[in-house]
Amino acid sequence: MSHADDHGGTRRDFLFYATAGTGAVVAGAAVWPLVNQMNPSADVQALSSIRVDVSGVELGSQLTVKYLGKPVFIRRRTPEEIEQARSVDVSDLPDQIARNPNLDDAGAATDQNRALDDTGEWLVQIGVCTHLGCVPLGEAGDFGGWFCPCHGSHYDTAGRIRKGPAPENLHIPVASFADESTIVLG
Ligand code: FES
Repeated sequence: MSHADDHGGTRRDFLFYATAGTGAVVAGAAVWPLVNQMNPSADVQALSSIRVDVSGVELGSQLTVKYLGKPVFIRRRTPEEIEQARSVDVSDLPDQIARNPNLDDAGAATDQNRALDDTGEWLVQIGVCTHLGCVPLGEAGDFGGWFCPCHGSHYDTAGRIRKGPAPENLHIPVASFADESTIVLG
């Protein structure tokens, strides 16, 4: 009898530990797939869309944010910059395509087709030179827009290539206003 009791006691202890151990493994197994499933989507979410508060951007200045690993220039243009950009004849441009994915079609490279809003005050562009990928400087170059010092590409105040080796206008990212002080990229 005493032998059986001892055995029973041992067996209960064994089952207790085995159950605890199995429980821990099951809990671990349940947690990891969840984490693994969440990680990629959380990353993709973070990368695919960001909100930018532009309430502090003064007229005539630029905010640069990083989006999808690239700089994005958010410029609040002065009336003079807008006027300068809108007085240009598209047929004089080396690249006559808007490069704006927010338009339904390819679109001509008018200033209206590149600006984010109807007034033209906001211009959002990917800050990567279309020649070999340097980051152009703002308020620089022969056309008062951006200048890429790597090989001398001059962009105008609408970010259109005007002189130098860059083949295309600065590209525009998918962008929209969420409200009057928030721009959503992506
Ligand atoms: S990379 Fe900008 S001019 Fe060459």
